[in-house]
Amino acid sequence: MSPPLYLLLDIFGYLSVVLRGLILIAQSFTLGGIAFQLLLWRPLQAQLSAGSVVIGKRCQRLLRLSAFGWGLLTIGALALNAAALVGTLQVSWSEAASADFARADLVIAACALGVAFLTRDASSKARLVALLVLSLLALAMQLKLTHAASRLDVRWPLLLSDTAHMLGAAVWIGGLPYFLIALNGCQTVGDWRLVGRRYSLMSMASVAAIIFGGTAMAIKYIGSADAIYGTAYGVMTSAKVGLLLMLLALGGSNYLLVEELRRDPRTPILRLKRFAEVEIGIGLTVLFAAASLTSLPPGVDLPGDRLNWQEIAERATPQWPVRLTSPDHDRLTISQLQGKIAATEEQRTRAPLAYVPGEGTILPRNAEDIAWSEYNHHWAGVFVTLIGLLALIEHFRWGRWARHWPLLFLGMAAFLFFRADEQAWPLGPAGFFASLRDPEVAQHRIFVLLIAVFGLFEWRVRMRGNNAGAAALVFPLTTALGGALLLTHSHAIANIKDQLLIEMSHTPLALCGIAAGWARWLELRLDGRVGQMAS
Ligand code: HEM
Repeated sequence: MSPPLYLLLDIFGYLSVVLRGLILIAQSFTLGGIAFQLLLWRPLQAQLSAGSVVIGKRCQRLLRLSAFGWGLLTIGALALNAAALVGTLQVSWSEAASADFARADLVIAACALGVAFLTRDASSKARLVALLVLSLLALAMQLKLTHAASRLDVRWPLLLSDTAHMLGAAVWIGGLPYFLIALNGCQTVGDWRLVGRRYSLMSMASVAAIIFGGTAMAIKYIGSADAIYGTAYGVMTSAKVGLLLMLLALGGSNYLLVEELRRDPRTPILRLKRFAEVEIGIGLTVLFAAASLTSLPPGVDLPGDRLNWQEIAERATPQWPVRLTSPDHDRLTISQLQGKIAATEEQRTRAPLAYVPGEGTILPRNAEDIAWSEYNHHWAGVFVTLIGLLALIEHFRWGRWARHWPLLFLGMAAFLFFRADEQAWPLGPAGFFASLRDPEVAQHRIFVLLIAVFGLFEWRVRMRGNNAGAAALVFPLTTALGGALLLTHSHAIANIKDQLLIEMSHTPLALCGIAAGWARWLELRLDGRVGQMAS
């Protein structure tokens, strides 16, 4: 196998989940755009004020871009999966291209590119019908790539549920950017009322379809109550329920606002737009979570290796960070190994002086290594807790001094620089540049740099207050993106318990990151009571 193919297989798991997430986004934006045209824009166009004509053009542009992206991404996924087949099963490229998934992908790509072509001028009824037929054919093919199609038992209820679920996701989440375009393009209160009301109705029907389809699939694929917390599939589905609740809170308050707008034309609509922005952000996260879920074996198929309550409680019980004193550096494996190498090499003279990271030796871990690592993690936790506390104190009138909290990131970066890689400079024998040959050390060093830059950046934002402009949005966006990526990792194929316990702690962290990031977004983009509550 050629080296690039090896590399590809190494990252195949993660790459395929990310690609699937991007495909689901492009698919939802395409289907959502077509639904927006058919159910909102065309029926209401005649009643909207003349100035709002720009909305149609902008929506059409986004629809074309999404369909084009859907086609290209599908071709990318097809190439990736075919490469994985060729690399692992020793089949030829032509054999890989004739597999079931490849044929489905080819039809999806052709339909999506067809939609992109037709949307250049979709004003005629015939073209609209063609758009609809092509997009539904692509959706039907997409279903062939899900668990529903691969079950051995009765499949049609699952296929039906998946269809309703995906259509609901497309009309609601995929329709959101078009709704935002419409809100920004509307000229009069009458326009906002019409668009808001119609989109509310579309969203409510979609939520019903999502909940109906999602619940039916969850019951069938999870199978029992203990698989909800005992398998990765159950944990990921619960994360989706958490995200749905966040979306429902935002969507619900937008619904109330639209109703208020109908009664009182003076109701300000800024909140409607800001909530829609956050709904888009969280909606994209759910689509990534959906891709991650599809990559997992359903919980019902994994009766063994499940976690039980005792194991979860044992891991999740809060404990004081007991390891606040460090073991000595010379008792770590790396130092002992270094000692052994030095002793052997002394006999052989003129031999390498040090173990150089990256040369491929997998080190054993002794109890001192674990203590060293726990010490690092516990102090990192102390830093994060302090940062959180100061960020809270900053909100009190007497606590303005605490707004310098981002500077604590510098302390954390310095701590990690010294402690994260005990074999590398300054504590270990490997020189600074030599140690960068080890990918793990290189990654740690990049993260240290990022933390420092991030801290300084956010500190400047806090110092500049209201004058920080768009720079203030970088921190919340990165936090929310970090949360989304935590949800989008690839999973161990078998339900290895340790992996699952790690996932148990990562999933709530991801949900907190997503909530914190988007709450800060609202704090920055909204004044008044809602902004304060978000803060
Ligand atoms: C706004 C909320 C949601 C959106 C946008 C959404 C979107 C999606 C999408 C697009 C898929 C298809 C994934 C693929 O084929 O790769 C999917 C699958 C699925 N979703 Fe959701 N979903 C949402 C909420 C939920 C909820 C609340 C549940 C559970 C009650 C749920 C359970 C499932 C299940 C079980 C699957 C099947 C995955 C598989 O094939 O194994 N979803 N979701």
